Amino acid sequence: MEKRELLYEGKAKQLFETTEPDVLWVTYKNQATAGNGAKKEMIAGKGQLNNQITSLLFEKLKEKGIPSHFIKQLSETDQAIEKVAMFDLEVVVRNVAAGSFSKRLGVEEGIDLPFPVLEFYLKDDDLNDPIINDDHVLALELATTEEINELKEKTLKINDALIDLFKQVNIRLVDFKLEFGKTKEGTIVLADEISPDTCRLWDLNTNDRLDKDIFRQDLGDIIPLYQEVLDRLTQL
Ligand code: C5P
Repeated sequence: MEKRELLYEGKAKQLFETTEPDVLWVTYKNQATAGNGAKKEMIAGKGQLNNQITSLLFEKLKEKGIPSHFIKQLSETDQAIEKVAMFDLEVVVRNVAAGSFSKRLGVEEGIDLPFPVLEFYLKDDDLNDPIINDDHVLALELATTEEINELKEKTLKINDALIDLFKQVNIRLVDFKLEFGKTKEGTIVLADEISPDTCRLWDLNTNDRLDKDIFRQDLGDIIPLYQEVLDRLTQL
């Protein structure tokens, strides 16, 4: 398989066509952004860490019966993935109050939520990815009722699997964002990435942050933290 023309360039990844019609080539970039691109920096080593963490987690989820668009890791920074039609949605799950949930609703960060709280966001940079409810999803024809139910069911299953994986390496899965796509056969599968860019990961004993919040809040270098997450997950 060979890499062909650039199909799409996002903030953190590039997507290329390949010689295989149903396979795309993803390259993880070193660019880090926060606040929808308001803060932007190149951070050497970030791309390869996120690629390796995502590849490892997609492999582990597959072992637990959760399919994704992931086919295989091609190099330190690259992956082969199945071409899917993406939902224009971000699905966020929260196990612990933090981030925009705490800010918007006035709930202290670090409080365990009584059940996993699921939110939908519209993927639209111009609108700053607004939070939306099920009716908005239906009215904007982003997904059908059946698809909404399937997205929720899959997300909760992924949450259970990820909580378990991270707990084994002494990490508290606070919250995270998922994206989904549809294969050409019409199956809904997990897509995009799962990394410290898209999850809040706190050390189980100290609550030390091991994720992008350190970059968002200008609290230091994220590379040793992302490396720590990868090193721990490699022990699984
Ligand atoms: O900022 P907020 O608290 O809403 O983020 C919830 C979770 O979703 C965090 O883990 C964050 O990293 C992730 N997220 C993301 N991409 C976005 C928005 C949030 O990965 N565009």
